[in-house]
Amino acid sequence: MTTLATLAFIGGTGKLGRGLGLRLAAAGHPVLIGSRSEERAVDAAATLRAQLGVAGCSVTRLEGRHNAATLPQADVVFLSLPFAMMDAFLAEHGTRLDGKIVVDVMNPLRLTDGRFEVAPVLDGSAGMRARRLVPAARVVSAFKNAAASHLLRLDRSVDGDILLAADDADAKAVVADLVRAIPVLRPVDAGPLANGAFLEAITALELNLNRMHKRTTSIRILGLE
Ligand SMILES: NC(=O)c1ccc[n+]([C@@H]2O[C@H](COP(=O)([O-])OP(=O)(O)OC[C@H]3O[C@@H](n4cnc5c(N)ncnc54)[C@H](OP(=O)(O)O)[C@@H]3O)[C@@H](O)[C@H]2O)c1
Repeated sequence: MTTLATLAFIGGTGKLGRGLGLRLAAAGHPVLIGSRSEERAVDAAATLRAQLGVAGCSVTRLEGRHNAATLPQADVVFLSLPFAMMDAFLAEHGTRLDGKIVVDVMNPLRLTDGRFEVAPVLDGSAGMRARRLVPAARVVSAFKNAAASHLLRLDRSVDGDILLAADDADAKAVVADLVRAIPVLRPVDAGPLANGAFLEAITALELNLNRMHKRTTSIRILGLE
């Protein structure tokens, strides 16, 4: 029997961290939900375990901890907190990410005159900045275009593509397998880490579409079949 990677979610009490944690725990991964507050993390993990129980999923391990306490046992660390908070987290804990696969899901967006746009980011994208701050981490930008509300509905499959941008091919392959573990998402190789900036721009477009059409959109790239 192969052991599935243990996944940590920094800021995992948020919608995206809970959604991915839920889906990947359902797929059998041990999941550690992180928070600035151990109590919030423990509560969020208990709620997710209950949700999985109702759905009849057996859970390997789903626990809540202080953000930093998730790191030692994690094989893959999701930075699932607001982008504006990343620098402070990495300044304090970044060296603990050395050698680990770090998944950047962050969209540095801002709302200007009722329209979402990408906020200027030093280094070009959230993932590029994460890598500059933690050069020994194996950063993969992914899940930026996913909708947390879809992930949180365990009774429905999640359709669409997850674009992956990374320079470390092995790390990208590991994250692609995590995408495949969530029915029926498809991973799409979107090239080097620098292309994460384009993924962030796509999210800005999706959020503008969501506002205009009062729907929750996701994306599918045609022509790759
Ligand atoms: N929501 C989506 O559909 C979606 C989709 C794709 C990507 N994303 C990206 O995923 C990330 C998380 O999104 P989200 O919607 O889950 O965000 P969120 O709910 O606003 O924040 C996630 C968690 O970050 C922590 N946090 C909030 N403010 C913080 C601060 N000042 N310092 C440190 N931690 C703080 C909170 O956890 P504690 O208070 O428990 O510490 C919060 O639960 C974002 O970067 C977003 O761009 C979101």
